[in-house]
Amino acid sequence: MDNNLRHTGNNQKSGKNESLAHLEQRDTRMWDVTGAMVFEESQSGKILKEDDALLAAALQEAGKILASGGTVAFPTETVYGLGADARNTEAVEAVFAAKGRPSDNPLIVHIASMSQLDGLVTRVNETERRLMEAFWPGPLTVVLPVAPGAVSPRVTAGLSTVGVRMPAHDIALRLIAAADCPVAAPSANRSGRPSPTLASHVGEDLAGRIDGIVDGGPTGVGVESTVVEVGADGTVTVLRPGGITVRQLARVATAGVRLDAALLEAGGVDIPAPRAPGMKYTHYAPRGAMRIVAGAAPERVAARIQAELDAAAERGETTGVLAFDEHLPRYRADYVESLGSIAALETAAHRLYAALRRFDDRGVTCILAESCPQDGLGSAVMNRLLKAAGHNVIHV
Ligand code: TXA
Ligand code: MG
Repeated sequence: MDNNLRHTGNNQKSGKNESLAHLEQRDTRMWDVTGAMVFEESQSGKILKEDDALLAAALQEAGKILASGGTVAFPTETVYGLGADARNTEAVEAVFAAKGRPSDNPLIVHIASMSQLDGLVTRVNETERRLMEAFWPGPLTVVLPVAPGAVSPRVTAGLSTVGVRMPAHDIALRLIAAADCPVAAPSANRSGRPSPTLASHVGEDLAGRIDGIVDGGPTGVGVESTVVEVGADGTVTVLRPGGITVRQLARVATAGVRLDAALLEAGGVDIPAPRAPGMKYTHYAPRGAMRIVAGAAPERVAARIQAELDAAAERGETTGVLAFDEHLPRYRADYVESLGSIAALETAAHRLYAALRRFDDRGVTCILAESCPQDGLGSAVMNRLLKAAGHNVIHV
């Protein structure tokens, strides 16, 4: 059930000139619980039947490691997270060290039950309560006033607030319950790399740097949670678009939903400091140079993308294109990655990070991407595409 990952190979692909020298090397335990989740046909259709003994044993072990100050990566419905006991400063510092994460970027605290909110935050207002009831467990992080001393100051990066979420994933919920503590967990990637949607992505980035990885198979949504903050007047501000859409929020938030100014102005000159500190960093970047081509006419977009690909190929570059199914036949490149149908952007969200990682694996140096409508999950997809491309957009 468990085997140790070798330390070799964990740092080769980072493209950064960092070594493990300053970092304590760790044996990374691997629990493969994918076999514990089998679908069985029944009269009422397909049901999920778990091999509970296997799953329970793995989560008991992994929970014990978390409870004793270790770092364990686990699947959530969005992306894999790298967990640590949020109250334990040493454990939280090990998360920052393993990721190479800037210390001014706070971590989201994951809980498995509403009772874990008591003592963690000083208050929950009416709108916040309604959001939790509507979307928890699920891909929504709510920024709340932190109770003094409830979590390590490293978790909040010195802020007076803490981002909290209850993930909609059985393995995550059971692991947090087994650890019996609030679990601080950023996405389980090296800082600057695309977030992991498979356990093997976590292994590529973090093997030898963390204590364990629970492999629960591919994650569902594929992009991170939506991060929101609720004002005194009940307005909901989206600090990071994600798995819960603005339209979903608006059904619950009667006083209205708005986007943080930093999201609207992204790429402009007068960008206010984003209120989700993580949003100022270039995340999700593939190693190749990536550009987005945007325009109202798909033919013009395709023509420009193909011209850029041809010019790159001429220069001897390895080319990749990220496009929607409807337009795939228009492209000739070394690697063509499909984001699914432009009419079903949940597929794009689900596939995006793995596609960016595959470009890296294949040594693609020049990446061209189509854009998508910023509607529904499309705003999270475009937000991540823009970051991956360093806001490099060609308008046609
Ligand atoms: O789906 C997710 O949210 C995943 C899974 C693992 O749960 N986690 C995740 O964590 O994406 P991370 O650390 O990669 O992103 C956390 C984001 C950052 O942009 C951070 O700045 C913001 O949430 N954040 C955390 N605490 C905050 C706070 N107190 N105030 C404002 N923003 C906060
Ligand atoms: Mg992240």
